Amino acid sequence: MTLPRILVTRAIYPDVLDHLGRHFEVDSNQADEAWDAATLIAKLQGKVGALTTGGDRVDAALLAACPGLKICANMAVGFNNFDVPAMTAAGVQGTNAPDVLTETTADFGFALLMATARRLTESEHYLRAGQWKRWRYDMFCGSDIHGSTLGIIGMGRIGQAIARRGALGFGMQVIYHNRSRLDSATEAACGARYVDKDTLLQTADHVVLVVPYSAASHHTIGAAELARMKPTATLVNIARGGIVDDAALAVALRERRIAAAGLDVFEGEPSVHPDLLTVPNVVLTPHIASATERTRRAMAKLAADNLVSFLLQGKPLTPVNAL
Ligand code: DGY
Repeated sequence: MTLPRILVTRAIYPDVLDHLGRHFEVDSNQADEAWDAATLIAKLQGKVGALTTGGDRVDAALLAACPGLKICANMAVGFNNFDVPAMTAAGVQGTNAPDVLTETTADFGFALLMATARRLTESEHYLRAGQWKRWRYDMFCGSDIHGSTLGIIGMGRIGQAIARRGALGFGMQVIYHNRSRLDSATEAACGARYVDKDTLLQTADHVVLVVPYSAASHHTIGAAELARMKPTATLVNIARGGIVDDAALAVALRERRIAAAGLDVFEGEPSVHPDLLTVPNVVLTPHIASATERTRRAMAKLAADNLVSFLLQGKPLTPVNAL
């Protein structure tokens, strides 16, 4: 019997690959070579499905060049690498990997917030460089987390999980801004109050971005928004590069118009704006908010299960479009 042929575009857990191999003929990039768009299209010839990651752009040009493709299963909750209308028009199912990473990503958002507010990496670099000679009353003073005001932009599952940590764990006043307001029971459960974006920017001691990337959310935080924030405020981006204007942020950090930032995602990553690399008051991490062993396995498994369920039974588990 001929098995349906699928492509796994990046290296993945070998047992997940074995799981896929029980149902499909699998072509995988286990060597983790860097593929450009033309290589991806070439590799997709004759394939009905692909396990993709956020770096794989699935757009109209790719879809036109791969007429046999039926599903792309993203190993990520975000799917801004998919041109969803083009996929729907081409009859290609898209799926993502929600829920399994919510709490892990919220943990990381909080870790980055704390590292940023309490100047963890800056002070560690100082120590490692042998600059620590004596204690000083004002050495690496940061800002408090407990009792402060946390402003969350984007109040989906991850935003709500961060809100709960802030309100219940750290006694923060939590305010949020979202495209639509949550119902009052959900607001109460995560201890958060809805405000407009300007109020959030002007009031929050710590602003955390968890909004999905789209044309509408491009540069949600630019020079004008940074100017509205308190000079003592911190900004954390665990959403997507492009939500923040990184060049404007680098200027605001250098000129101390805000106190500090923590960034896990970048415009044009894995490139990082060179000015961000030279300012001390920013904590930089390489897009690892969901990176725990258990969660990354769960994401890979869910992406694989989407391929199996859709290609064998016609039922995507976590679809991002309706065909
Ligand atoms: C996600 O799941 O969207 C994370 O950002 C990993 O890509």
